[in-house]
Amino acid sequence: MNIVGIESSCDETSVAIISDGKLVSNLIASQDFHTQYGGVVPELSSRAHLQIVSPLFKQSLKEAGLEIADIDVVAATAGPGLIGALLVGFSFAKGLAYSLNVPFIPVNHIEGHIFSGFLMKEKPEFPFLGVVISGGHTLLLLVKSELEIYKLGSTIDDAAGEAFDKVAKMLGLGYPGGPKIQQYAIEAEPSEIRFPVARTKSEFDFSFSGLKTSVLRYLQENFPDNNIPEKEKRKVAKAFQDAVVKALSKRAEKALKRFDVKSISVVGGVAANSGVKDGFSMLAKKYGKTLVIPSLEYCGDNGAMIALRGKQLFEAGKKFGFETNAFPALPHNHFLQSDV
Ligand SMILES: Nc1ncnc2c1ncn2[C@@H]1O[C@H](COP(=O)(O)OP(=O)(O)OP(=O)(O)O)[C@@H](O)[C@H]1O
Ligand SMILES: [Mg+2]
Repeated sequence: MNIVGIESSCDETSVAIISDGKLVSNLIASQDFHTQYGGVVPELSSRAHLQIVSPLFKQSLKEAGLEIADIDVVAATAGPGLIGALLVGFSFAKGLAYSLNVPFIPVNHIEGHIFSGFLMKEKPEFPFLGVVISGGHTLLLLVKSELEIYKLGSTIDDAAGEAFDKVAKMLGLGYPGGPKIQQYAIEAEPSEIRFPVARTKSEFDFSFSGLKTSVLRYLQENFPDNNIPEKEKRKVAKAFQDAVVKALSKRAEKALKRFDVKSISVVGGVAANSGVKDGFSMLAKKYGKTLVIPSLEYCGDNGAMIALRGKQLFEAGKKFGFETNAFPALPHNHFLQSDV
């Protein structure tokens, strides 16, 4: 069986093909030009997706050694994401499935991230603790099976990736901020700077906006002219990153004490962070759990995770009609809430 996965929710166009259970192509075209604007410009993103999606699909078929008629199932990201960007990949995929008369599977982008650990050789084992840390989401989940995803907690304000991007902006490091903060943190000299980890009403929820404000206050008090020496930027980056890792690990540890899981899987763009990896490695070791963090190409947005989630849903017998639309068809917050 050959399944195509198409992703276009933000600033990556990606087409992947899973053939008889094996990932045979995963092409990712990143829209790097947004860096000059300090963030993703939705209209420019949609136009760039439009230009690249068709050639990328053809290239993916070539890489997989397949003809268009060999495609058995088409999956595409339906949301959440930028609506104009989503519509490009989604409509392309829907048209493709319709013309080939094969099943079409709309995929929730976050569910794609959640199961991205299954693209690795060492896969998570059910039930696992899912930690989604991306540009738009921060979620703690109990994943009992492919179709039972329970939300334990989420951010009450900023997402983890968003906090990385905003702090990077304060430090004048550019966009996207995550990789820059990581680099600066690695090069930092030891320092006394500590930023607080916010408490939340619900024990599994996260909050990053207070941390962001603490960083801003620290910078305003210590560098009122906004002239921050590189050496100091490194120290602040490290202290900020440590605070994020602490906030994530603290909630995850509580969940590990409460729920008997076999694995921990940390996914999404921020899972690429070396400090995050170290923090969760220590936690996994302490509690005797296996830890699965996807490799770099599967942490950020990619078609492979969409093809994989499409495959899971198809094999579970989920049926979707061509009347399914992007974004409105899949509510943002649809994970199971009770009877954990
Ligand atoms: N090494 C890193 N350290 C920390 N953050 C990182 C690193 N690499 C990427 N990020 C962050 O990951 C985020 C992008 O991740 P991803 O592509 O999964 O998010 P998104 O698709 O924009 O959001 P969502 O998946 O919630 O819709 C950005 O905020 C970026 O700064
Ligand atoms: Mg994403």
